[in-house]
Amino acid sequence: MTRNLLTLKNYNQDEIYRLLSKALECKRKRSRGKIEDNLKGKTVALIFNKPSTRTRVSFEAAISHLGGDSIYLTSNDLQLGRGETIEDTGKVLSRYCEAIVIRTFSHEDVEALAKASTVPVINALTNNHHPCQALADLMTILEKKDRLASIDLTFIGDGNNVCNSLMIAAAKVGINLTVGSPKGYEPDKELVDEARSFITGVNKLSVTNDPKKAVKGADVVYTDVWTSMGQEKETKKRLSDFKGYQIDEKLLKLASKDAIVMHCLPAHRGEEISAEVIDGPKSVVFDQAENRLHVQKALINYLVANGKK
Ligand code: CP
Ligand code: NVA
Repeated sequence: MTRNLLTLKNYNQDEIYRLLSKALECKRKRSRGKIEDNLKGKTVALIFNKPSTRTRVSFEAAISHLGGDSIYLTSNDLQLGRGETIEDTGKVLSRYCEAIVIRTFSHEDVEALAKASTVPVINALTNNHHPCQALADLMTILEKKDRLASIDLTFIGDGNNVCNSLMIAAAKVGINLTVGSPKGYEPDKELVDEARSFITGVNKLSVTNDPKKAVKGADVVYTDVWTSMGQEKETKKRLSDFKGYQIDEKLLKLASKDAIVMHCLPAHRGEEISAEVIDGPKSVVFDQAENRLHVQKALINYLVANGKK
């Protein structure tokens, strides 16, 4: 059966740890300048219907480092933009390429693409999920804190795609996750319940409207933009609704004294995070961004290069 990565829902703890350990190995290999060619003669299609700096470039670089080729496509480059179905697109791309990476709006479109494709499909962000980001986040926490189980992680802000993927990932690896969102911006209740069902240990997943309570004693404090791609019309309202949810020095003082600060980037200094925090000593955001490369290399190795189809 073709293995995809649409969300981390059907990845078990063991599989996640194997990916993280492979990602750490990829990172060590790169620092030693070791060349790999597991993807030689293989091509990956990258469909991007939203902008991207990290995801696009880290996928292209990862594929190139592994000796493979990638083709960057937007809907407008494809007949998809002129009404060809996502299913037909998947069937055709599967005849040419060994995997399809897609960033788009509707998560259902990515599910439909995966169903029709005979090669692995990797979700590079939808309105609902961002699993590659969550894997890089776990890798970063593991590197900085030497463990995942029983880490207290707090996500402050919008219950969005990044938060959703973090909920699933945290539940699976034993992280205690507290989400602090304004009223009306909490993560979807159904997904919170589903994420809770993935907990096999003693960790907890909680949601609160109180940012101070959420941050208290946290080992890791995480945030993301208040206005995600596609929500630009709501920017003004969101700026006002998220007042009091900025990660600044004052809020961060409530976290553990060794707390690290994470952000998936791009960041808006002065909105969800203050400049002094994101550019300060507790911030690990650029290591986190770098880890996208290593984790995606591990993922491509797992889904594509090793022929696990
Ligand atoms: N974090 C992330 O996915 O960044 P890009 O939008 O730049 O890919
Ligand atoms: N929540 C953000 C994440 C960007 C990487 C968005 O969807 O725009």
